Amino acid sequence: MTGDLNPQAAQMADESMVRNLDAQARAIWPQEEPLFQRYAVRPDARILDAGCGTGEISSRLAVLFPHARVMGVDIIDSHLERGRARYSSLASRLTFAHQSVFDLQEPDGAFDLTVCRHVLHAVPHAERVVRELVRVTRSGGYLHVLAEDYRMLHFQRRGELDPSDFWHAVAPQFGSATGTDLFVGRNAFTIFTGLGLEAIAVDYAIVDSVRTPRETFAAILEAWRDGYVESIGELTEFSRDEASAYFEAMIESIRDPGAYAAWMVPIVSASVP
Ligand SMILES: C[S@@+](CC[C@H](N)C(=O)[O-])C[C@H]1O[C@@H](n2cnc3c(N)ncnc32)[C@H](O)[C@@H]1O
Repeated sequence: MTGDLNPQAAQMADESMVRNLDAQARAIWPQEEPLFQRYAVRPDARILDAGCGTGEISSRLAVLFPHARVMGVDIIDSHLERGRARYSSLASRLTFAHQSVFDLQEPDGAFDLTVCRHVLHAVPHAERVVRELVRVTRSGGYLHVLAEDYRMLHFQRRGELDPSDFWHAVAPQFGSATGTDLFVGRNAFTIFTGLGLEAIAVDYAIVDSVRTPRETFAAILEAWRDGYVESIGELTEFSRDEASAYFEAMIESIRDPGAYAAWMVPIVSASVP
């Protein structure tokens, strides 16, 4: 895999990402699990978790669908090894393999349900990736994509700092510097319609001060801070220290019992014709 297809390789492999995936799963899965239960997948379904990271969700899928075979693929071997070690009790039905979402080593129509979470915003050519996910999903199968959008983060002003100013500038600047689409959350619907997918639905997981334990929500922002302030300092108008100050303001806001913050996370799903 060439570097330019994986512009966030360093951040994805960082220990902060392991923490982040744990916190994101704890925040989002309770709202996402009922969405998975809508799909009419057969008991012995094959499920792909494309860009599976440490297997947080691959493992939850294996538990939710107790007769399905789940395959998680990623290009970071340490994440795959962590998944194998942590979920060894599920190993008869849950496997992990080094494969790229740009070029999956699986035949056409191999999976009944293809899942791709928190990946499309981090890679270029999101449409190409979705096309590859569709290729490996059988006719009548389902595609389930959690696609981030960095203008769907809402924080109150904190002192001098308004996090809206930060995200408004960082999202297009970071995206343009890395060749990625940080608005893919809203753009995924158009990608899906362009590929002729059917029964397209857009749902939201809402990570906010009311639904999510404040410490879980704060852990996500802390992990983003630890993983991203250096590159935000290099690639956007904000210095590393300015980026840190904005993250601190957002984290304080999440921990403040009188304040409200929300991250809206689009989940776009469809059936494959
Ligand atoms: C933010 S993590 C999300 C992990 C997991 N889907 C989850 O929801 O917990 C994004 C993952 O996509 C992986 N990734 C990035 N480019 C990839 C590619 N071309 N093929 C497979 N995985 C990729 C990264 O290595 C990282 O583990």
